[in-house]
Amino acid sequence: FRRLGLRGMKQRLLVVANRLPVSANRRGEDHWSLEISAGGLVSALLGVKDVDAKWIGWAGVNVPDEVGQRALTKALAEKRCIPVFLDEEIVHQYYNGYCNNILWPLFHYLGLPQEDRLATTRNFESQFDAYKRANQMFADVVYQHYQEGDVIWCHDYHLMFLPKCLKDHDINMKVGWFLHTPFPSSEIYRTLPSRLELLRSVLCADLVGFHTYDYARHFVSACTRILGLEGTPEGVEDQGRLTRVAAFPIGIDSDRFKRALELPAVKRHISELTQRFAGRKVMLGVDRLDMIKGIPQKILAFEKFLEENPDWNDKVVLLQIAVPTRTDVPEYQKLTSQVHEIVGRINGRFGTLTAVPIHHLDRSLDFHALCALYAVTDVALVTSLRDGMNLVSYEYVACQGSKKGVLILSEFAGAAQSLGAGAILVNPWNITEVADSIRHALTMPSDEREKRHRHNYAHVTTHTAQDWAETFVFELNDTVAEALLRTRQ
Ligand code: G6P
Repeated sequence: FRRLGLRGMKQRLLVVANRLPVSANRRGEDHWSLEISAGGLVSALLGVKDVDAKWIGWAGVNVPDEVGQRALTKALAEKRCIPVFLDEEIVHQYYNGYCNNILWPLFHYLGLPQEDRLATTRNFESQFDAYKRANQMFADVVYQHYQEGDVIWCHDYHLMFLPKCLKDHDINMKVGWFLHTPFPSSEIYRTLPSRLELLRSVLCADLVGFHTYDYARHFVSACTRILGLEGTPEGVEDQGRLTRVAAFPIGIDSDRFKRALELPAVKRHISELTQRFAGRKVMLGVDRLDMIKGIPQKILAFEKFLEENPDWNDKVVLLQIAVPTRTDVPEYQKLTSQVHEIVGRINGRFGTLTAVPIHHLDRSLDFHALCALYAVTDVALVTSLRDGMNLVSYEYVACQGSKKGVLILSEFAGAAQSLGAGAILVNPWNITEVADSIRHALTMPSDEREKRHRHNYAHVTTHTAQDWAETFVFELNDTVAEALLRTRQ
């Protein structure tokens, strides 16, 4: 920062993401109650060293009246949050439509919607317009709060049009963009009708970041193949201007989990769970109920395992926590019924009067209950069909200090690149392979379990969310400073 001439002043960081890290409930005309999410990502982003950070985003609620908007803005200011107000129509078109029905499945290799091509094409255009309008609304809020020298860090696939809006307003803004999902192979990405506009906008950023080197490479290939630009080891070059592209793998705040495991309430919970499942091995799945998480495939693999290993019936249980998400999108509604149907069938088939093989919960758990579950289970099953990183796998490892449980991990999750040596890697589409891995995990000798765990634990506890956030902000400052030097030479 000294290099940038900020002379000891705290630099300001504006984090811009679709969602604010709060849940807001209206208690009266001008009264809101707020609960701030206490996750590692939030404290990492709001806690970058020597930086004064604020978070700009949608509060996840519709507030049509000015009194309500003013009161919410005031309440959020105390939490260093600034709201962007989106009305119901724009949420429907931008968030449910373009973000969650088009970009999300495409970036996870599930393709574009196909039911009714004509309707999709028509919707596609109005949804893309709404996407751009929504991005402009985020930009307008950034302009209101921006001061010269601020760093603006845009997050995720919801805000791919934001870097362009910001640089059009003021070319000197320092803009970074980070994608939390995979960036798919250019052969998949190029099916997107708005492929050009989105790539050009992202390239307006000074620094573009991804979880893995592969995603960064896919992005650079998309720029070279679709836009005809030049890819360099540093990033993408367009008429002498370089956009830096790099990998910044995220992590968790592992100390927060370690601390939680020391709390008396969590210890109590652990001993209750241990008693409850005494005599049985416990396997755990924790996922948002999303098609990318491969929950049906995971449950079918468990069924195959039970089928092929009758001696394990009654000796193993799968706890699947499926957190409801994006419930207004029809694809997600279909998935919920599909999962319920499979779970019911398998429990009917393998259950006894005293036990069922699958405990399926459609809800989230509070942090302490989750830590206790992570700590008592013998195996975690993370079988995403695609996943940007997947931090459940990190959280599980962080809580397994004493038990040294086994992680079964999809090779299509970003985390496979960092936890691959300690986990059993699987192709989640191959149900036989996953069933075999379940047997391997349940019968693994303790020295092998310990060796695998040691590897993963070392990684999870040394690559934290805090380091991730600080590295990105440092690199963004550095990239801008170097570009300035180049233009002055
Ligand atoms: C993924 C995305 C995030 C998103 C989260 C929850 O992790 O990368 O940007 O916030 O899912 O989804 P939701 O649609 O509820 O915000």
